[in-house]
Amino acid sequence: MLGNFSYCNPTRLYFGEDALGFLNTELPRYGENVVLIYGGGSIKKNGIYDDVMKFLRENGKNVAEIAGVMPNPTVDKLYEGVEIARKHRADLLLAVGGGSVCDYAKAVSVSVNCKDDPWEKYYIRFEEPDCGTLPVGCVLTMVGTGSEMNAGAVITNPRTHQKIGHVFADEKIMPRFSILNPKYTLTLPHCQMVSGIYDIFSHICEQYFSGEDDNVSDYLSEGLMRAVIRDSRIANRDPQNYEARSNLMWAATWALNTLLSRGKSTDWMVHMLGQSAGAYTNAPHGMTLSAVSLPYYRHILPFGVRKFRRFAVNVWDVKAEGRTDMQIAEEGLAAMESWMKELGLVMNLTGLGVTGEMIEGIADGTLIMNGGYKVLNRGEIVEILRESLA
Ligand code: NZQ
Ligand code: ZN
Repeated sequence: MLGNFSYCNPTRLYFGEDALGFLNTELPRYGENVVLIYGGGSIKKNGIYDDVMKFLRENGKNVAEIAGVMPNPTVDKLYEGVEIARKHRADLLLAVGGGSVCDYAKAVSVSVNCKDDPWEKYYIRFEEPDCGTLPVGCVLTMVGTGSEMNAGAVITNPRTHQKIGHVFADEKIMPRFSILNPKYTLTLPHCQMVSGIYDIFSHICEQYFSGEDDNVSDYLSEGLMRAVIRDSRIANRDPQNYEARSNLMWAATWALNTLLSRGKSTDWMVHMLGQSAGAYTNAPHGMTLSAVSLPYYRHILPFGVRKFRRFAVNVWDVKAEGRTDMQIAEEGLAAMESWMKELGLVMNLTGLGVTGEMIEGIADGTLIMNGGYKVLNRGEIVEILRESLA
């Protein structure tokens, strides 16, 4: 295990078909002013909104709403929500939705008492909050991001074509509680379901493809990846399969709740490339990752052959006998590619509306990380993005 570290995750999870009932345990812990935050209306169609409102009323809450949080929430929407939360003197922000809604609630939480412009402070200067923050609770309706149990909040600035994530250092920014009812995810359109599945897988890869030591995280990651592959195949054939969908929900939470990254370096270049492409296309997050992953992994493969070989054998059951490490490693990526196609993921940037003229801008917006097997230079970023077009 690398270095010295501490581990604390304060988010209390309530999991299962009856999990929403635990709002009766959580809501009394906070003052009466609640801001209910949700997206474009799916929770009104599938009844979750009515169920949550019932619990809020029963607990005597005075509720204001921030509705219409869009996928890949924007900085203007953040400014609007901060005003609503201030006016309402919010005691609790209750996010009901997917990663976008949960992330957005955290961004409002750190901005509500902050005098500076939150975009400049948190997303350009990457400062930590130095003002009071508001508690956030989540009722999760889409699986993938892990936002339900982490301190990440991704915000998009469409004016500058920047999509930037801030993972706050203070665990107080993590949701105080999250309600995980797998049944809530059953109304997701197929494209969102598979986008979320690939997001889970990518989170694990980002923390797996780094380091040369024999790290506990890598064994945890391999188990999670095998579970995601198995359950995604079942869910893809039979989207209403509760067992598969509930396994995916639990795997998503553990894929990005700070556990896997302890004691090792991490990569995150697929996310940096995908996020920058997302700022130009507003595409579903998971699809931006699937579009760039294989060109990126094939590019860095020569710098991390041993790990890619291990991935092939331990995750994809590639037979090692009589082959070189490189051949085994390449076969692992080929197995990953056919699984991605089987799910129906978007496999290139053109499929998301990216054109050749956008490549330089997307490269400009790609933050370069240094924890993976190869620190990319700008030329390599452009090359990978161009390969991702086809
Ligand atoms: O807006 P509504 O009407 O609710 O519709 C949403 C949205 O259109 C719909 N949806 C959600 N639950 C549903 C449903 N439709 C039917 N039934 C349901 N039960 O799904 C669409 C996508 O939702 P969204 O929340 O945008 O998806 P996701 O959970 O993938 O979140 C994406 C955001 O999270 C960020 C991404 O960058 C992106 O902005 N991420 C956050 C991370 C974190 N906090 O650590 C890490 C991730 O890597 C990611 O970057
Ligand atoms: Zn992600």
